[in-house]
Amino acid sequence: MKILVVGNGGREHAIAWKLLQSSQVKQVLCTPGNGGTANLTGCQNYPLKVEDLAGITELARKEKVDLVVVGPEMPLSLGLTDHLHQFNIPIFGPTQAGAQIEASKAWAKQLMVEAGVPTAASEVFKNPEKAKKYITQQGAPIVIKADGLAAGKGVIVAMTLEEALEAVDSLFASGFDTLIVEEFLTGQEVSVLALTDGKTIRPLLPAQDHKQVGEGDTGANTGGMGAYAPTPIATAEIMAQVQRSVLEPTLKILQQRNIDYRGVLYAGLMISPIGELKVLEFNCRFGDPETQAVLPLLETPLEDLMLACAQQTLADCLPIQWKSGSAVCVVLAAGGYPGKYEKGNEITGIADASAKGAVVFHAGTQQGETLVTDGGRVLGVTAVGEDFESAIAIVYDAVNCIHFTNLYYRRDIGHRLKAVNN
Ligand code: AMP
Ligand code: GLY
Repeated sequence: MKILVVGNGGREHAIAWKLLQSSQVKQVLCTPGNGGTANLTGCQNYPLKVEDLAGITELARKEKVDLVVVGPEMPLSLGLTDHLHQFNIPIFGPTQAGAQIEASKAWAKQLMVEAGVPTAASEVFKNPEKAKKYITQQGAPIVIKADGLAAGKGVIVAMTLEEALEAVDSLFASGFDTLIVEEFLTGQEVSVLALTDGKTIRPLLPAQDHKQVGEGDTGANTGGMGAYAPTPIATAEIMAQVQRSVLEPTLKILQQRNIDYRGVLYAGLMISPIGELKVLEFNCRFGDPETQAVLPLLETPLEDLMLACAQQTLADCLPIQWKSGSAVCVVLAAGGYPGKYEKGNEITGIADASAKGAVVFHAGTQQGETLVTDGGRVLGVTAVGEDFESAIAIVYDAVNCIHFTNLYYRRDIGHRLKAVNN
């Protein structure tokens, strides 16, 4: 098989790496890819941007690929899938109508309410003064969300009324015209990435990521500083509840609306201290860095699952098989991220880290004469162990081998697991 992967993050490197572990996959094309996919045996990078729908379609046709896999939300929300469907190219990723589940939080909220999916109470506002009046009535803490793709910058969890009112002004000032004001939820966040072919839907192993930049889950929100799977917080009972009360009703309402959804439905859940679950958000793609922790544990060939989603035969691949053990991914970032950071710093020690038993997924890297940093999140170092304790020991041993100027990472990835085990 020949597969085209669209994207350039750690998630896409992990997908390409996993696909190439199978003898059925002869070649992976990645566009635009990164330093990791450039160095991966069997993988070739192409310089097309993820927004270049016509270019990507042309590449898929010219290379006669068997499948296109889309990593990020942007090309999905621009309609890459609809484009490729016109040429009968199998694609893993929902249509533009389906991608609204991530691209518009107001649309997703309405869908959840109609489907009876548990989610935080909320109101939608197009008028700043009305939003502020409502926020003042509700009081803080409260959550303000921009409607639209915002690369992780559109959600403000306001602990004070002042912060919440400021958030309204700053989101409207930065060009958003619709806001969602949502009830503040407490508990632990779990990422459930589910595969669907539009007829059947099944979760992958539940994961947790660490969104905040600082140790102890403090500081600014990022795309994710680390992740682990399978998280013990999501017990079998909770996963059964996710299937019954989140995944199935969501798929059903998508079907009722004639939305062709084949790919990943990512449910970001909040699980309260008493085990009550609510959906915080849906995404239309794999999570990053959750994918880097989940895929190394997958036993069923990934290409079989992805092709089955594209061809609506997922039921034939069930149950999804998993390896035993636990996986932990630690993100190595450029100091300053998620604010300003440097690019172009030389990266060393990857081979030594791999020799320690870890897999080093690249995110913001570029391979020229040397390998250099090229983004905020630079690498995702993943280790699998027989339990979390051993995975964490292997991963940090490997992380210690890697160097670049201003390297920053969290030393406490997986710290919440201690609370579960004690
Ligand atoms: P979202 O993009 O909707 O997942 O929001 C980004 C992050 O903001 C989430 O991962 C949570 O950490 C936080 N968040 C979102 N909604 C809520 C909420 N209703 N209550 C508390 N925290 C939230
Ligand atoms: N790790 C969070 C996300 O992919 O949205």
